[in-house]
Amino acid sequence: TRKHKIAVIPGDGIGKETTPEGLRVLDAAARRFGFDLELKHYDWSCETYAATGKMMPDDGLDQLRESDSVFLGAVGWPGVPDHVSLWGLLIPIRRGFDQYVNLRPCKLLPGSKSPLAGRGPEDIDFYVVRENTEGEYSSVGGRMFPGTDREFVSQQSIMTRIGCDRIMKYAFELAMTRKRKKVTSATKSNGITFTMPYWDERFAAMAKNYPEVSTNEYHIDILCAHFVQHPDWFDVVVGSNLFGDILSDLGPAVAGSIGIAASANINPEKTAPSMFEPVHGSAPDIAGKWIANPIGQIWSGAMMLEHLGEKAAADCIVQTIERLLGEGGPRTRDMGGQAGTVDVGKAIAEAVARG
Ligand code: NAD
Ligand code: IPM
Ligand code: MN
Repeated sequence: TRKHKIAVIPGDGIGKETTPEGLRVLDAAARRFGFDLELKHYDWSCETYAATGKMMPDDGLDQLRESDSVFLGAVGWPGVPDHVSLWGLLIPIRRGFDQYVNLRPCKLLPGSKSPLAGRGPEDIDFYVVRENTEGEYSSVGGRMFPGTDREFVSQQSIMTRIGCDRIMKYAFELAMTRKRKKVTSATKSNGITFTMPYWDERFAAMAKNYPEVSTNEYHIDILCAHFVQHPDWFDVVVGSNLFGDILSDLGPAVAGSIGIAASANINPEKTAPSMFEPVHGSAPDIAGKWIANPIGQIWSGAMMLEHLGEKAAADCIVQTIERLLGEGGPRTRDMGGQAGTVDVGKAIAEAVARG
């Protein structure tokens, strides 16, 4: 039988609650579709940091490299500064494994209520393709003259030609697989004078290679407004690291809840493992109550299976989520229900097992 090695990092907060539900559904899919998942668990988290002063061991990436994929919950917990925890675990994996695509679907699921009156599932179905290794997140800069009245901080936003071209190529290739074949670029070339005009230039150059794909671009501010007022306009939206981050919380929120949002950190050339995790964080405000929505995690598991070549199993999970929600199945509070994390996970796993 086919076998896939998965490194599991539940991380912090609700990551510890949603990850087991993701695994429950993956296990059901593996049995039904006849493949094996070999899981290896890593307890790397803010607790590890408290105990050892590090979020993961020095050879952490080498340990993960032996897996086919990484399945992650969430990282970050009060008491450890976010830039320490995230730059100690999540971001080194994205960069170290050159996971330059952060693919984040935005889909209005049946039976879930969009805050936009009168919208149905057919109206919101697009992808945010987020650059995941450079741009505004480049760690170049620092604090100068600390403690003096000359103190200043600076952080460079670095966009490389390779970095722009490869994320745009991915967006156009994705659009070619879709019915509408449309790519929207998130820019801000009216205000940000070096990086964004360059981004526009690379976008225009890439578009020339794809005559069948229609394109447009919006400045990020009005693009946010259009996400709310005209979510039906979008098919594939490509953005820099920060713009993509913002749009990929906004999109799912417009579609009903950040709790359903899935993401894939992909190394398309497969020179290192890819990583699959929900878009949301560790949600300290609800952690420990077992009310977190596990759908973002479960859907991320489906994206992982697709990446591993288990397309039938991946489609089955997504269709099962849609069907159960459409039939009025259990849902957590963020979707207007009363069910707990485990109830939703079990309902989806049982339905996947039954077929
Ligand atoms: P968050 O996504 O953790 O929570 C934002 C809000 O959404 C909260 O009210 C939370 O209760 C709600 N929410 C999130 N996921 C939910 C779910 N599955 N079901 C129901 N409600 C859900 O964002 P935050 O509060 O800005 O960040 C908390 C911590 O998580 C911080 O340390 C932050 O840095 C970290 N974080 C990590 C990741 C990641 O690991 N990829 C992503 C975002 C934030
Ligand atoms: C995300 C998160 C992270 C990001 C944070 C926690 C560093 O918001 O995965 O969207 O900005 O990439
Ligand atoms: Mn984010």
